[in-house]
Amino acid sequence: MLSVVFATVFSLAAGALGGSRLESRWGDPYEPFQVYDTSSYGPALQVEHLFYDQWPTGLSVASDGQIYVNFPTQINYTNMQFTVGVATSFTTEAAFPSVEYNQPAEGFVSPANPNYGAGDPEHLVSVQSVVVDALDRVWTLDTGRPLSDGNYLYATTPGGPKLVGFYQNGTRFANYVLPPTTAYFDTYLNDVRFDLRPTTLPSGKGVAYITDSSNEGRSGIIVIDLGTGNSWRHLDGTPYTRGDPQFISSYNGAAFQPINQGPPAGIYAHITTGADGLALSADGAYIYFSPLSSRRLYRVPTSYLLVEPGPASPSAANAAIAAVEFLGTMGSHADGMETDASGVIYIGAPEQDGVTMYHPDVGLWMPFIRDPRIQWPDTLSVATNNRLYFTTNQFWRQPALNNGTDNRIPPYGVLSVPIGAGKVNLT
Ligand SMILES: *[C@@H]1O[C@H](CO)[C@@H](O)[C@H](O)[C@H]1NC(C)=O
Ligand SMILES: *[C@@H]1O[C@H](CO)[C@@H](O)[C@H](O)[C@H]1NC(C)=O
Ligand SMILES: *[C@@H]1O[C@H](CO)[C@@H](O)[C@H](O)[C@H]1NC(C)=O
Repeated sequence: MLSVVFATVFSLAAGALGGSRLESRWGDPYEPFQVYDTSSYGPALQVEHLFYDQWPTGLSVASDGQIYVNFPTQINYTNMQFTVGVATSFTTEAAFPSVEYNQPAEGFVSPANPNYGAGDPEHLVSVQSVVVDALDRVWTLDTGRPLSDGNYLYATTPGGPKLVGFYQNGTRFANYVLPPTTAYFDTYLNDVRFDLRPTTLPSGKGVAYITDSSNEGRSGIIVIDLGTGNSWRHLDGTPYTRGDPQFISSYNGAAFQPINQGPPAGIYAHITTGADGLALSADGAYIYFSPLSSRRLYRVPTSYLLVEPGPASPSAANAAIAAVEFLGTMGSHADGMETDASGVIYIGAPEQDGVTMYHPDVGLWMPFIRDPRIQWPDTLSVATNNRLYFTTNQFWRQPALNNGTDNRIPPYGVLSVPIGAGKVNLT
């Protein structure tokens, strides 16, 4: 630990002496020596799956142990084969629900297809999150925004942004294509949680809560009525759903500041991602969320989010904003969070190579697990077997954040740890 602290202080000082930047990274000339965090804490970590080809973000585990994963589409990153998969062995995955459903019209890279299939409502374009709900059905959240050249994120095209539900046998049972009034051109659908109780909305089919983590600023929370397909936004572009200006984080004991791949290339930048991970309280009464480019945790009562702003409820948007509660800063920013049936919220802590526990009843934070193999816990998912699963994906080493150089070193993984309760069942 001490050497980690000294190395951090030393490299920050060296950066300050060498120029105006605050930056320290793998192989950086200002880095006096490689910094590794070797501390560990908490229950035994189990490696569930390794990815050698595709780069995962989300995962979810069905009651029979099937691991569903997704890979945001990265055009020109050669091993991209499909955007949603199911693990078929410790190191292999197959397309889900089918190879065909993972192929947008005319493919991703046809010169005759300027939007690269990004507006195709009948196929998956670029999925950022996959969630198995309490009825064991598989939901896929499609941003409609493939990334090309490791850096350029396409704008949405109507038809692209959508929430699609499949039974585990691959039959589609729902396809909620979001209108441009809910999914803007710069919306990035990030993560989703479900309350399937019939009493939650008049339609009786429940509700989906989705974060829009847009880097471009209009981040917020999107609500879909699963009975009518109607959708609306809340907390749109507010400070609660946007990151901190000038946000700087640290990994493995070293401060990190992205360098733009461009254009213009080589400029020191900041991560600007907004509301990203979200968790629904075990009783369905609150949504917990945090902007990725901040360490701030918030919650908002779902009763406010369930009211659609509009002529019939002109004050709904302001009422939801006024109802947001700031719960404190988390010690690390977070890319994912998840509730178990006992009400505990697990929150990823990329800056501590770990996962934190938050007890909402008393507002208590506790370290839960820390391990050098946890290199950016991305999505968290509780399964019926009383285990917490999460992906580790070295997110900050992407080319878009490192002047075009891909510093990620496969394999990426799915890890799991035992916890005290199972999956929340709001049905
Ligand atoms: C990456 O793919 C896009 C879309 O096909 C294409 O426009 C671009 O030239 C490609 N870049 C490289 C470096 O191949
Ligand atoms: C797939 O599963 C659903 C739900 O269990 C069922 O209704 C449907 O008949 C199944 N379809 C096929 C092709 O097996
Ligand atoms: C970024 O990459 C460009 C092109 O390779 C290079 O000229 C520049 O020095 C790099 N900048 C930094 C800060 O690494």
